[in-house]
Amino acid sequence: MKNILVTGGAGFIGSNFIYYELEKHPDRRIVCLDALTYAGNLETLEKALKNKNFRFVKGDITDRKAVEALFEEESFDAVVNFAAESHVDRSIDEPEVFLKTNILGTQVLLDACRKRNIRFHQVSTDEVYGDLPLDRPDLFFTEETPIHTSSPYSASKAAADLLVTAYFRTYGAKVTISRCSNNYGPYHFPEKLIPLIIANALEGKELPVYGEGKNVRDWLYVRDHCKAIDLILENGRLGEVYNIGGHNEKTNLEVVKTVLKILGKSEDLIRFVKDRPGHDMRYAIDPTKIRNELGWYPETTFEEGIKKTTQWYLENRSWWENIMNGDYVKYYEKMYKNR
Ligand code: NAD
Ligand code: DAU
Repeated sequence: MKNILVTGGAGFIGSNFIYYELEKHPDRRIVCLDALTYAGNLETLEKALKNKNFRFVKGDITDRKAVEALFEEESFDAVVNFAAESHVDRSIDEPEVFLKTNILGTQVLLDACRKRNIRFHQVSTDEVYGDLPLDRPDLFFTEETPIHTSSPYSASKAAADLLVTAYFRTYGAKVTISRCSNNYGPYHFPEKLIPLIIANALEGKELPVYGEGKNVRDWLYVRDHCKAIDLILENGRLGEVYNIGGHNEKTNLEVVKTVLKILGKSEDLIRFVKDRPGHDMRYAIDPTKIRNELGWYPETTFEEGIKKTTQWYLENRSWWENIMNGDYVKYYEKMYKNR
């Protein structure tokens, strides 16, 4: 594969994937299409923009005309769709944009790909399976677990997944889907639990923990997710779903306390706040299929990954401070004003 379109590449996982691909496949060209919503940050792609194999295009995946124009201009071998509204709390306040971007945007990309017989990979989430009870540690999400969504976010991601599989069956589109558990690592937007806790703790601010902090998430270092997508793109079976997760289950309170310990900050910063409506209790992935079929395994333990991540936020303070104070939205102007 020579030319790959990565949508949503100015966000957390998409940007990590772009860096992974540029490093792993130096002969590969990556085009990033991103609308630069509040979650997109061109500063994140600063190093990629210096690479001759990388091109950034500002554009919306729901804009059919713009997407068609880009597909006419470029000759893509594959598309990896990260572009999405991704924050559960925002979906509870304002669901509509989630339906538009996550469902209709996916359809626009699917149409562009199937017409040209281009390989399409949909980056989905374990949240499409709903949640598991805390008192059944023997249960895990497999690819056969029924879709059973809780939030407008997860419902929109599930709807997109169903469209992808429908395009496979009806049109023979060349598709795969991956469903990953919670990621953490560099460039994670500080509205999500781990980066929010690190940033707030460093600024001596309160750390909001929903409910009693007993909800469990299955954390995966973002580079391990990128490696899995790269493998699926190369060797995944068309029409298949692959679950991605590394058996790193932690309660939210455990995560928060771990971060505080690494930073040497006091647990007095913790504040138990009103719970998220419909809050999923536990996510836990069974990654047997991707391990057996593609040889994937996670390289980073939670203990290592959380230390590396905390260190990254310490060393890249201006990156998240620019987000916290809104400066990052000016970056696009700064980067492009002389072009
Ligand atoms: P993010 O919110 O950090 O980034 C999303 C990116 O998509 C941003 O750069 C944003 O500008 C862009 N975008 C949004 N709407 C767009 C549109 N209409 N057109 C073009 N670009 C648009 O998200 P993330 O955490 O990096 O998640 C990426 C993908 O991975 C999402 O599809 C999400 O559902 C999925 N996922 C995330 C996690 C996680 O833990 N963060 C886990 C599993 C799956
Ligand atoms: O499982 C994959 C999903 O993980 C992805 O599909 C989503 O895009 C991604 O945002 C993430 O969803 P979560 O809702 O699990 O992530 P979030 O970081 O928002 O919250 C993690 C847990 O921490 C969750 O139980 C809610 C809780 N929480 C979150 C925030 C922001 C808090 O207790 N306090 C907070 O301030």
